[in-house]
Amino acid sequence: MSVFSPDLLKDEVALVTGGGSGICKGIARAFVAHGAQVGLVGRKADRLEAAAAELSALGPGRAFALPGDVRDYAAMEGVVDALLERAGGLHIVVNGAAGNFLCPSAQLSSNGFRTVLDIDAVGTFNVSRVAFDKALRDGGGCILNISATLHHGATLLQAHASAAKAAVDATTRNMALEWGPAGVRVNGLAPGPIAETEGMARLLPPGMGDRLRATIPLRRFGRIEEIANAALFLVSGAASLVTGAVLVVDGGASLPQAMSVALTSPG
Ligand code: NAP
Ligand code: COA
Repeated sequence: MSVFSPDLLKDEVALVTGGGSGICKGIARAFVAHGAQVGLVGRKADRLEAAAAELSALGPGRAFALPGDVRDYAAMEGVVDALLERAGGLHIVVNGAAGNFLCPSAQLSSNGFRTVLDIDAVGTFNVSRVAFDKALRDGGGCILNISATLHHGATLLQAHASAAKAAVDATTRNMALEWGPAGVRVNGLAPGPIAETEGMARLLPPGMGDRLRATIPLRRFGRIEEIANAALFLVSGAASLVTGAVLVVDGGASLPQAMSVALTSPG
């Protein structure tokens, strides 16, 4: 049962990159559950079609599969055109498409570093730029960039993703500055470790779950629905004055003293 009004996003049209899986599929599910029409972007057309059918069956909104690679600007122009034609508008963009893997900087190839920057940072720019040009510039709306907390300090074996998410956060603030006068809010959402996601499967070494959990002040990993709830808030009228912000949703995992929580007992 949602804490938000069931028709929170009625008459809204959203584009969610990375919406075929994991956290961003959860965000798309929440948008559809609150009445929105949602275009799902990713490279794997079959997975997108399955996700769109699943979410549309749940309703009351609808989801469409819009395959494409966020690194390809022309492809994103086609995706936005297709969504405008099918849904009649575009008001909300969620940039969630991302790539990551563990690799020491000394072994990472230049192309490996560039690939993650391209997907996360250039992809976020491409989709935002196209959406602004074709829809948001005239009608207003909001953009939500899915970030992380890797770059708040430094994260072992993730120089590529840390640099990419730092660029995403910078883009969030700069676009908020430039596009605010057009009535476009641009925010970020930085999840901590979220259970049952590809990100966790790739980045958490086997057997390390309990040790990592012990360092989180709330002593648990997040759930996809908790990130979706934060996304619903940020794209809704409840956040009408919020722009240029990056909301950390991580149970306190990235607080500077979080590691010492493992040494304490409750209270
Ligand atoms: P995920 O399921 O692997 O989501 C990534 C999505 O991006 C996939 O649906 C993938 O679809 C899409 N994608 C990748 N490259 C793309 C490209 N070039 N063009 C279009 N789509 C592309 O992973 P997740 O763990 O749910 O992560 C979702 C977001 O949350 C990411 O931004 C991630 O950085 C962020 N995050 C996750 C965690 C966590 O604990 N999981 C923590 C902090 C931040 P295709 O393969 O079909 O292209
Ligand atoms: N360790 C080190 N380097 C790696 C790597 C790994 N695990 N995986 C890929 N690379 C390097 C490749 O070797 C290649 O560099 P090279 O040309 O110098 O050899 C470069 O990265 C690009 O790899 P490629 O497989 O061609 O990229 P892609 O565009 O097909 O896929 C990835 C992008 C690599 C990010 C892929 O893992 C992906 O699609 N991820 C999406 C899902 C995801 O990461 N989810 C978690 C989100 S937090």
